[in-house]
Amino acid sequence: MRSEELVVKALKDVLGDKLSAAELQQALEKPKSLALGDFAFPAFSLAKIFRKAPQQIAAEIAGQISQAHFEKVQAVGPYVNFFLNKSEFSQTILQTVLQQGQAYGNQDLGAAGNVPIDMSSPNIAKPISMGHLRSTVIGNSLAKLLRKANYRPIKINHLGDWGTQFGKLIEAYKLWGSEAEVKADPINKLLEYYVRFHKEDVAHPELDDEARAWFKKLEDGDEEAMRLWKWFRSESLKSFMKIYKKLGVEFDSFNGEAFYNDKMDEIVTILEEKQLLQESRGAQIVDLEKYDLNPALIRKTDGATLYITRDLAAALYRKRTYNFVQSLYVVGNEQTNHFKQLKAVLKEMGEPWADEIHHIPFGLITQGGKKLSTRAGRVILLEEVLDDAVELARQQIEAKNPNLENKEQVAEEVGVGAVIFHDLKNERMNNFDFNLEEVVRFEGETGPYVQYSHARAMSILRKAAAAGDKVALAGTYSLNDPDSWEVLSEIAAFPAMVKRAVNEYEPSVIAKYALHLAKAFNKYYAHTKVLQDDVQLGARLALVKSVATVLKESLNLLGVHAPDRM
Ligand code: ARG
Repeated sequence: MRSEELVVKALKDVLGDKLSAAELQQALEKPKSLALGDFAFPAFSLAKIFRKAPQQIAAEIAGQISQAHFEKVQAVGPYVNFFLNKSEFSQTILQTVLQQGQAYGNQDLGAAGNVPIDMSSPNIAKPISMGHLRSTVIGNSLAKLLRKANYRPIKINHLGDWGTQFGKLIEAYKLWGSEAEVKADPINKLLEYYVRFHKEDVAHPELDDEARAWFKKLEDGDEEAMRLWKWFRSESLKSFMKIYKKLGVEFDSFNGEAFYNDKMDEIVTILEEKQLLQESRGAQIVDLEKYDLNPALIRKTDGATLYITRDLAAALYRKRTYNFVQSLYVVGNEQTNHFKQLKAVLKEMGEPWADEIHHIPFGLITQGGKKLSTRAGRVILLEEVLDDAVELARQQIEAKNPNLENKEQVAEEVGVGAVIFHDLKNERMNNFDFNLEEVVRFEGETGPYVQYSHARAMSILRKAAAAGDKVALAGTYSLNDPDSWEVLSEIAAFPAMVKRAVNEYEPSVIAKYALHLAKAFNKYYAHTKVLQDDVQLGARLALVKSVATVLKESLNLLGVHAPDRM
């Protein structure tokens, strides 16, 4: 039985039907400090039922409760504090972790249901921004969390590979571009042409007409337009892939906006049939006033479809293809309104699964407290950030552990892991500041700190193995000192953390948890001689092994490597 259930059962035995098991469980609190016990039950809610002061009720419960499984049950004011039997508890929990290994903490919340995750989705011919980085790493972590909870995540990169900007790009390329230039440095050159277009069209508005004509040609499948578009797309994708490889992120689908070109007529037809389309100054819209939203613009005056039209087609396609139980969109919070409109139109279309569409928004990355802005020169180029992070990690490894084998690979894993961890430890809706030196520190609330703690645990286990001491799968694991107790309580909390992270779509729960566990372990390590040859050696090694297992799994859920040595 789980520790919480033990407490609930003991309370139930005393209280009978006064409160249900669920109500008792709800009421249980975790005291701020372990010195106050492992669980506390506040007696306030019973005051009315018993017509007595909560203090008195707490004292009576504490007097009557069965002491089996507990070291002590004590009333303090209106609270009943429970102290678990440490030896018994450590036995159960360590045995569970050793037996289950990386599967410890797995949940069955999803019953193997499909969950498409729309994530990353950068725009062709532009550099991947820090916003796209957030979407990529949050989406990747959510995919891992969902899988652990027995969902089937499907990672979809909804590339921004269609739209009027491609008309501008083609026009700009025809005017000023060269094939050799683009080949040498695709993203930067294409961006340069695009930026130049926006400068020059102020004085030469005829450029816009040309661009519109090119986009029209593209939509009509003109050979040259298509050839250029395909080429821009594949060059861009190549450079995106380099970044994804560095981040260790893979996708199940690259069906971007263009993929839906032949699937939008159906949307327009459905909207027409359901009499949802209205004319408004030549354009076609769906009125969303009853949702308190602006109308959704489905088709422009010139017949061109829009971002939301493509998203409607994509939503329908995903429902048909994956028959999803939920459909997630990890996209910055500046698009909140767009996703509200998307859901509202689907609702108007009578699609009951509109309720399973969830926008997972996130906040901005700032620098020196300011919004990033290309114009103000506050740009962060993702590729450079990753390279710099790896370089910083390399320097620190060089100083700490110059003889480390495969230093290069470890530096990659630490540098890139640091950037990912920093992003994920912040609650996703918070804006946060990016300062590379902070991010790659080996001390403090960083990814390298957690990785380092894991490597330390692994090193203890290696030393033990060298001395002939292996962790036995079934041994006696009773530990009852306060430092190991803190570590054990953290380990025991892991399954609940996984559940919370999944339910709230919040990887930061796991990142913060990993920091707590690492901290508790380092404190333990500072106070305890693990490798001392006495009767508890086996139990201490089991604890260290469990820490390594849970730290590694936590990092894995965030998409961060856990090197064995660093
Ligand atoms: N390409 C878009 C952008 O960079 C994000 C696309 C998000 N996904 C979607 N299905 N709308 O802003």
